[in-house]
Amino acid sequence: MFSFFKATPASTGKGKLIALMNQKGGVGKTTMAFNLAHAYAHQGKKVLCIDMDPQSNFTSLFDFEDRQDRRNIYHLLVNSVKELKALHTSTFWSDVLVKSAEGIDLLPSGPELSGFELTVSGINAPRQLILKRFIEKFDLRSLYDVVIIDGPPTMGLLVVNILCATDGVLYPFVPDRFSEQGLRKILQVVEDIAEMEITSTPKNLGYIPNLFDTRRKQAAEDLEEIKKTLGEATVHEAFTNKVQFGKSLAQRKSVFQYKSSEYKDLQRQFMTMSDTVNRELGYEN
Ligand SMILES: Nc1ncnc2c1ncn2[C@@H]1O[C@H](COP(=O)(O)OP(=O)(O)OP(=O)(O)O)[C@@H](O)[C@H]1O
Ligand SMILES: [Mg+2]
Repeated sequence: MFSFFKATPASTGKGKLIALMNQKGGVGKTTMAFNLAHAYAHQGKKVLCIDMDPQSNFTSLFDFEDRQDRRNIYHLLVNSVKELKALHTSTFWSDVLVKSAEGIDLLPSGPELSGFELTVSGINAPRQLILKRFIEKFDLRSLYDVVIIDGPPTMGLLVVNILCATDGVLYPFVPDRFSEQGLRKILQVVEDIAEMEITSTPKNLGYIPNLFDTRRKQAAEDLEEIKKTLGEATVHEAFTNKVQFGKSLAQRKSVFQYKSSEYKDLQRQFMTMSDTVNRELGYEN
């Protein structure tokens, strides 16, 4: 068995926030977020997941009672803005938090989140910092060791809120000839945030080449070319097309919940990725 199956210790109070971002859809943000969260849980870390995508794919990977009237992260964010008092609901943490059998907590998303930008459009308080202030208000860094945020495949205020709140960003991408353009766009938003000087700039925790096509002759060369344009940041080991992802996610399970040898390599990849991220964030392993 793996040496990383340890008992859960108490929170260290210095929790770090890691967001999975790329405005391109279907590049593996949710897949990586879910499995990385489990990698951290297996390291004995207390993990909170936040689903910031109105599509709620991350949420649907948890055992979640999908009721129409279910309150979600949208309601918590709205409640945290004083100026939106007229829209406040009596929503408490306990109403919203979903707990998994693996000891991972989730703040779920819901369709209301797609109206977030419009809802906050008239407020005077900084609209970019709503998520950041929410996290501070509830002192999530002392409650959790790691907070994993799954981002939406869009480019609006939700993305800016995530980038302003998080300590670091992982960028999953499919290494094709359009991927570089897509990555440039989100990196530009990070640069814009740095220039605004309203908050610290999130660290680039690396790029994750996903759905790397080993059967395509040019694939390795293309990836090498893309790597050259990505600058200093880490490029994590590429993930190929793995049926194990489809199988496990359909059962709402991470790759760590299987003992069979066909999952071992993916488990290793996620553990290596989390170790690298820990070093980048100044965590001890
Ligand atoms: N390496 C892989 N091998 C096989 N299937 C994969 C792999 N990575 C992701 N997938 C599958 O591809 C689909 C899209 O992945 P995922 O939902 O993680 O992308 P996403 O970036 O979160 O998409 P969106 O932007 O729409 O939220 C999912 O069905 C997932 O199971
Ligand atoms: Mg997703």
